[in-house]
Amino acid sequence: MHILGIETSCDETAAAVVTGGTIIRSSVVASQIDLHRQYGGVFPEMASRQHVLSIAPVVQQAIEQSGLAPQELAGIAVTYGPGLAGSLVVGVNYAKGLAFGYDLPLIGVNHIEAHIYGNWLRPAAETEEVSTPVFPSLALIVSGGHTMLILVRGHGDYEVLGQTLDDAAGEAFDKVARLLGLSYPGGPAIQSVAEQGNPRVFSLPRAWLRGTYDFSFSGLKTAVLHVVEQYGVDPHQWKQGVAARNGVAAAAISATRLLPVADLAASFQEAVVDVLVQKTKLAAEEHQVQQVILGGGVAANRMLRTEMTQSLDCPVLVPPPVLCTDNGAPIAAVGYYRLQAGERSSWDLDVVANLALS
Ligand code: KG4
Ligand code: ZN
Repeated sequence: MHILGIETSCDETAAAVVTGGTIIRSSVVASQIDLHRQYGGVFPEMASRQHVLSIAPVVQQAIEQSGLAPQELAGIAVTYGPGLAGSLVVGVNYAKGLAFGYDLPLIGVNHIEAHIYGNWLRPAAETEEVSTPVFPSLALIVSGGHTMLILVRGHGDYEVLGQTLDDAAGEAFDKVARLLGLSYPGGPAIQSVAEQGNPRVFSLPRAWLRGTYDFSFSGLKTAVLHVVEQYGVDPHQWKQGVAARNGVAAAAISATRLLPVADLAASFQEAVVDVLVQKTKLAAEEHQVQQVILGGGVAANRMLRTEMTQSLDCPVLVPPPVLCTDNGAPIAAVGYYRLQAGERSSWDLDVVANLALS
């Protein structure tokens, strides 16, 4: 059974064809990162306009590269939330038109659910066995918009154990990168600078929120701001991307004292990873899960992947980085399981910007 998955919830226009819910026949992603970099974050109206330009060629390429004719598809799955309404609407309407035109079922998919399913996919060219879903699993979804610990009891059977009370983990990476004069998106920029720094130099706070599985990263971000200010740096003066190449030297441009960007980035990254790993470990033990799975852009973080694998007693699944960030393949995978369960969406499917996981 071949499903086309379409994803436009944020700043990636993406489409993929997946067979049997696991094998990726094609996956095309048109990233808008270069467009949004000048604003230091996603500019919503520009994102939706760019989706309008990219959606047709991206979907066409995904179908062509799959080697299938549209009539051979069993259904069209599309993200309908959560995300930016103006971005979601482009994918949903395109999917509707295509499904209607080819007389195929339309399946609306929750973006968070798709991040979970990124763990159970493999490219067609790879012969390695794909990890199959094992329940109960614990999913840690960490992206630019979400930080969630989810108990996965079965396909479509979820309990949200905890989530962020303020900034998402990826959002914290992006905001702290701006404070340090690093480029957007902040996660990869902080990661590479941090690898040259010493995480013991700055003692940054961890919001443990004991007794809950909730998270909070805004205090950590403020603590980084205070350190930056103590060094006499005005974060508003940074030119995006300048410091990414050489943190310490670039910091000197506007600092009255040298700001050790690499050490601060390393200390920040360690504080985020520490909380994510410890909370996931506690929840995995309490709920005696069979496996822990990671998803979302922050799951591409090398330190998080290593620490999580080393600290937990159960198997930890981490998708390859290209499947951590937004793409169409996991949307198609969720669509496959939903269609198998006899579900399909009606033609009045609407976008839901703050869609909950259910
Ligand atoms: O899942 P995603 O592509 O989009 C959303 O649904 O938000 O996640 C994007 C987020 C950004 O905040 C980006 O800074 C972060 O993921 N990210 C990383 C890394 N790569 C991407 N954060 C930490 N380390 C990385 N290597
Ligand atoms: Zn995402």
